[in-house]
Amino acid sequence: MRSSQLKSFASKLHGSSLLARNKRFFASSADKIQRPKEPVRVTVTGAAGQIGYALLFRIASGQMLGPNQPVILQLLELPSGAKQLEGVVMELKDCAFPLLRGVVQTDSVQKAFEGADYACLVGAKPRSKGMERKDLLKENAKVFAEQGKAINSYANRNIRVVVVGNPANTNAMITSHYAPKIPPKFITAMTRLDHNRGLAQLAEKANCKVTDVERFAIWGNHSATQYPDISHCMINGKVAKDVIKDEAWIKDTFIKTVQQRGAAIINARGASSAASAASSCVDHMHDWMLGTSGKWISMAVCSDGSYGMDKGIWYSFPFVTRNGDYMIVPNLPCDDFSKEKMDLTRKELLEEREALESLLK
Ligand code: NAD
Ligand code: LMR
Repeated sequence: MRSSQLKSFASKLHGSSLLARNKRFFASSADKIQRPKEPVRVTVTGAAGQIGYALLFRIASGQMLGPNQPVILQLLELPSGAKQLEGVVMELKDCAFPLLRGVVQTDSVQKAFEGADYACLVGAKPRSKGMERKDLLKENAKVFAEQGKAINSYANRNIRVVVVGNPANTNAMITSHYAPKIPPKFITAMTRLDHNRGLAQLAEKANCKVTDVERFAIWGNHSATQYPDISHCMINGKVAKDVIKDEAWIKDTFIKTVQQRGAAIINARGASSAASAASSCVDHMHDWMLGTSGKWISMAVCSDGSYGMDKGIWYSFPFVTRNGDYMIVPNLPCDDFSKEKMDLTRKELLEEREALESLLK
C-alpha cells in the first residue's frame, strides 16, 4: 500500500476503534514474530545507591535481558535508604517503561528474593580514598552471608546472580556458601568493568574501535592484583602486540592503569565508579543470558581448577557464552610473565578466603 493510500485508509478510521479493528494491520513485524514472554523477577540490592540509580533504568528499559523480556523489579534497601528508594521508584514509574510490569520496594530480604530469577547484588559499603577493596572484607561479607541464606530459601533454584559489591569475588564465594541449593555456577562476580576498561584503553592506544579488540581477558581478583592480559589479544585480526608496538606501555602503563582505575576514579570523583559499574553489570548479565557469539568476556566464577586455579575460589577467566550457559576459554598457552601474574592474584584470593574462614565453616 502506497503512503497516500495508507493516509486515506487511516483517515476513515478514528479513535480507539482504529487499533481494535486493525490490530493485525498495525502490529509491527517484531510483534508478529516474537510471542510475549512472562515477566521475570530481578532483585537489585542497594537499589537507592549510586550504582542502583544508574542500573535500574537500564534493566527496566530492556537493555539487560533483551527488548522482549518484561521484568518485575524487587528492590532491597536498608531502612535508612527507604525514603530515597521511594523517590527512585517514582522516577522508574514516570519513565513508563513498557517492559516494567511491577516494582517491589522493601527492606526485607525475604520479600526481595521471593521467586527471584536474577539478582544483582550491589548493596554494600564502597571503599573510600586510601582503602583497598579487601579492607571491606569482613564488614561486607556479613551482608552477603545473609543474602545467600535468603536466596537459598526464597529464590528460584535457577537464579542467575552477579555480585557487584566489593570485594566482589569473595562476596560471591560467601553468597554461594550460604546458598547450597543454588548451583555455584549460577553465582558470579563482576570483573566486566575491568574488562571494559581494558578494551577502552587498548582501543585508544591503537586508535581503533573497542569492537576491533578481541580475545582480551581479565584473570583473577577484582582488585589491584588482577591481570589484564593482552597476550592472546587481536586488534582488527592482527596480533595486538604487533599493532601497539610498545612493550613498555603494555607491561608498565596498561596493566597498572586497568588495575588502578577504580582508585583513580575515587581520587578524581570523590566517590567510586557508578555509571560504568552499572553499565558493566548490564553487559555481564546480558552477555551471559543472550550469548556472545564467540566474543570473549571476563567474569569471576567458582574455579573448577582450570589453569591451575584452586577449586572453590571465585576467579576471573575469559569466557564465551551461549543460551544462558558459559564456558571458560580452554587450553590457552600462558607464558611465564602471564603465569606469574595469574598466580599472584590467585594467592590474594586464597588470603581473602582464609581471612573469612570463620564465616565459611
Ligand atoms: P552506595 O553507598 O552509593 O550505595 C550502596 C547502597 O547499598 C546504599 O544505598 C546502602 O543503603 C545500600 N546497602 C548497604 N548495605 C545493604 C544491605 N545489607 N542491604 C541492602 N542495601 C544495602 O555505593 P555504590 O557506589 O552503589 O557501590 C556499591 C558497591 O559496589 C560497593 O561495595 C562498591 O565498592 C562496589 N563496586 C563494585 C564494582 C565492581 O566492578 N565490582 C564497581 C563499582 C563499585
Ligand atoms: C571500581 O573498580 O571502580 C570499584 O570496584 C570501586 C573501587 O573500590 O575501586
